[in-house]
Amino acid sequence: MRFEEYLEGLVFSEEPRLAGLVEVMRYSMLGGGKRVRPTLCMEVAGVFGADPGLVLPSAAAVELIHTYSLIHDDLPAMDDDDYRRGRPTAHKKYGEAMAILAGDAFFGESLTLITLHQEGSAEQVLEVVRELAGSTGVNGMVGGQVIDMNQTGVGEATDPETLCMIHTFKTGALIRSSARIGAILAGADERGQAAISEYAMELGLCFQIVDDVLDATSTREVLGKSAGSDAEQGKATFVGVYGLDGARKEADTAAEKALAALSTIDGDTSGLGELVLFVRHRGF
Ligand code: IPE
Ligand code: IPE
Ligand code: MG
Ligand code: MG
Ligand code: MG
Repeated sequence: MRFEEYLEGLVFSEEPRLAGLVEVMRYSMLGGGKRVRPTLCMEVAGVFGADPGLVLPSAAAVELIHTYSLIHDDLPAMDDDDYRRGRPTAHKKYGEAMAILAGDAFFGESLTLITLHQEGSAEQVLEVVRELAGSTGVNGMVGGQVIDMNQTGVGEATDPETLCMIHTFKTGALIRSSARIGAILAGADERGQAAISEYAMELGLCFQIVDDVLDATSTREVLGKSAGSDAEQGKATFVGVYGLDGARKEADTAAEKALAALSTIDGDTSGLGELVLFVRHRGF
């Protein structure tokens, strides 16, 4: 698979004193992970007529940001999880300091990848950076994680609006920017970008609802990460607030809305439709 090869080939440093840091980064980013975000980015580029290979640096940048978010999400100060992608978490294997620093390093490396290696006009590359930075910061992943942490322990009492905000920010924003980045680099027009944004926003919400459902219903062996920890910690989840059946219905609704948004796009969107079905039905 082209994306895996690209990721495998990334060289962060050849300085022997930094070999330990590079080892943690490679441990965390290789050999696991569904690669939903880069797949989405490349698929969207293809829908708007670009060679998916064109967006590889940006698709990898998104995956690095995602990997950073997972490393930090698992830290004792946050979800305190011991397993990720079928293996001990980065902090379990390499210690907390290295896990924190590997996450931090991914942030910088993702921007380096885009600004050094992404083809496209200066305007397009700038817009890609803006998308990624925006979806990662206060009004995206990190902001969502903060509200998630604030609700931990009192999750079931979370009002629906706050719950939706947590999911849209902590997970939806990066999924949406992955898709938008593919569209920007392929030169999609405003209408196309708007439709893709709508599609990916619903896909992102569906993704996190399903993640909540799987935490409540699946096993560590299947997921490659701990199961049942959301209820134990009193996390704000769709299962906690709506119940299992309610959460599944909400996931169905988001999936339907994502599929509906695709119908307004010219071009072959069958791959994006399949991605919705994969996200909705994975792990069952
Ligand atoms: C897990 O993401 C964290 C969430 C945002 C729900 P993924 O389910 O995409 O994790 P990997 O990349 O496949 O390990
Ligand atoms: C994590 O949400 C979202 C981010 C990493 C930004 P979760 O805490 O539910 O993810 P998992 O279940 O640990 O993968
Ligand atoms: Mg979390
Ligand atoms: Mg977690
Ligand atoms: Mg989860």
